[in-house]
Amino acid sequence: MSQCELIPQPVFTRAQIAARVNEMGAALTRLYGEEALVAICVLKGAFVFFSDLVRELRNPNLELDFVRLSSYGKSCESSGHVIFHKDIEVDIHDKHVLIVEDIVDSGHTMRFLLDQFKVRAPRSIRVAVLIDKGERRRADVPIDISGFYVPGGFLVGYGLDCAERYRALPDIWEITAASRACQI
Ligand code: IMP
Ligand code: MG
Repeated sequence: MSQCELIPQPVFTRAQIAARVNEMGAALTRLYGEEALVAICVLKGAFVFFSDLVRELRNPNLELDFVRLSSYGKSCESSGHVIFHKDIEVDIHDKHVLIVEDIVDSGHTMRFLLDQFKVRAPRSIRVAVLIDKGERRRADVPIDISGFYVPGGFLVGYGLDCAERYRALPDIWEITAASRACQI
């Protein structure tokens, strides 16, 4: 069995994703109004979600930045040992911060980011996540807005990868259990 084989039915279609991202953008636009806001994309997985979401934010004081982290490596379970490959470049002091992430799974990655940014004294920090795998949480992280909830499974497409493949698929798909190197 080859690695990363797709179950032949999308989990979330591009139309479902677009509708949900639209709702999330509207809610966040109401929440922040025109206050200074820095939206931070967690590379690489969140890049498609981020680009769709920020274009729904009606805020002239919106700044965008990017972080690149490493926790998963090539193993299946987030280790809790997270490092920055690339930090943000803008100053977040006294600004609202919105961390935009693809998936919160164990929560280790998000816990690391929240701890890193908190000490830089932003006005607030919130988390927008496309997919919440809530049942798998190990670290306690508050999620302010999520697109979809899934109990498990390994998802690809719309920015999400399996060994760097499938990020460019417009819909979200699941990898077959048999083709997974390990159970997520
Ligand atoms: P956490 O630290 O366990 O919460 O790991 C979250 C990170 O693991 C996400 O940013 C993703 O990069 C990756 N991840 C977790 N589940 C999946 C999945 O189903 N597909 C693709 N990447 C995943
Ligand atoms: Mg990620």
